[in-house]
Amino acid sequence: MPTDPHAGSAAAPLRIAAAGDVHVSPTNRDQVEAAFARLAGTADLVLLAGDLTTHGEPEQAAVLAKICRPLEMPIFAVLGNHDWHCGRGEEIAAALAEGGVRVLEREAATCRVHGIMVGVAGVKGFVGGFDGSFLPDFGEPLLREVYAECGRETDALDRGLEAVAECDLRIALLHYAPTPATLQGEPPGIFAFLGSDRLAEPIVRHRPDLVLHGHAHAGTVEGTIEGVPVFNVSVPVIKRDFWLFEHAGAPRAEREGLKLRTA
Ligand SMILES: [Fe+2]
Ligand SMILES: [Fe+2]
Repeated sequence: MPTDPHAGSAAAPLRIAAAGDVHVSPTNRDQVEAAFARLAGTADLVLLAGDLTTHGEPEQAAVLAKICRPLEMPIFAVLGNHDWHCGRGEEIAAALAEGGVRVLEREAATCRVHGIMVGVAGVKGFVGGFDGSFLPDFGEPLLREVYAECGRETDALDRGLEAVAECDLRIALLHYAPTPATLQGEPPGIFAFLGSDRLAEPIVRHRPDLVLHGHAHAGTVEGTIEGVPVFNVSVPVIKRDFWLFEHAGAPRAEREGLKLRTA
């Protein structure tokens, strides 16, 4: 019986499920649990773009950790401003780790899925605004500290993307927006609180394959930063549980690039 020499040689596509602003609470707990349960068999990697809890209480993170624990795929996350509301971000990260969720705080991580080396640089990002309305490094020390904090996040993103430069697939994972493109729909008066274009500097420099963020609940799903695809995967924006991406499943030198698959 003749055999097809190419049969079985095609790499399986890498399926990435991304969501931000899950905001786990007692009222949506069952809905979130059902959404994550559906990922088994449909996603190979999960990326969470912050605001995982409603008010940053470790007990809320423990609920999400319990939901994530049965899942066998890698799960990476960054925290959002809600997750820091009680000033207990480290405890939130520790609670999520119990469920197998790796929280990236100004750091990068890698995993190999279907033979593809994936690198994720994760930072929360911060406020500061965009061209035309932004916070300058001037004046009262408190305001200058806000500026400095955004700089620390930007520097960490630069280091993280540098660390994953050799990966087949390079992803920047943030909570705050690095571009106003994915904020369209939000009141322009609050753009400065939704992100900063300073965060775009390392993205322009390293040109990752994909940039994900959340935070802007009334923004727009898709945008670009000098041709680099940016997705606001905030659940209220994507109007579904997860936005699914499919990667061609070939190494960097051979791949066709990311292909969007709608769920
Ligand atoms: Fe949020
Ligand atoms: Fe947020």
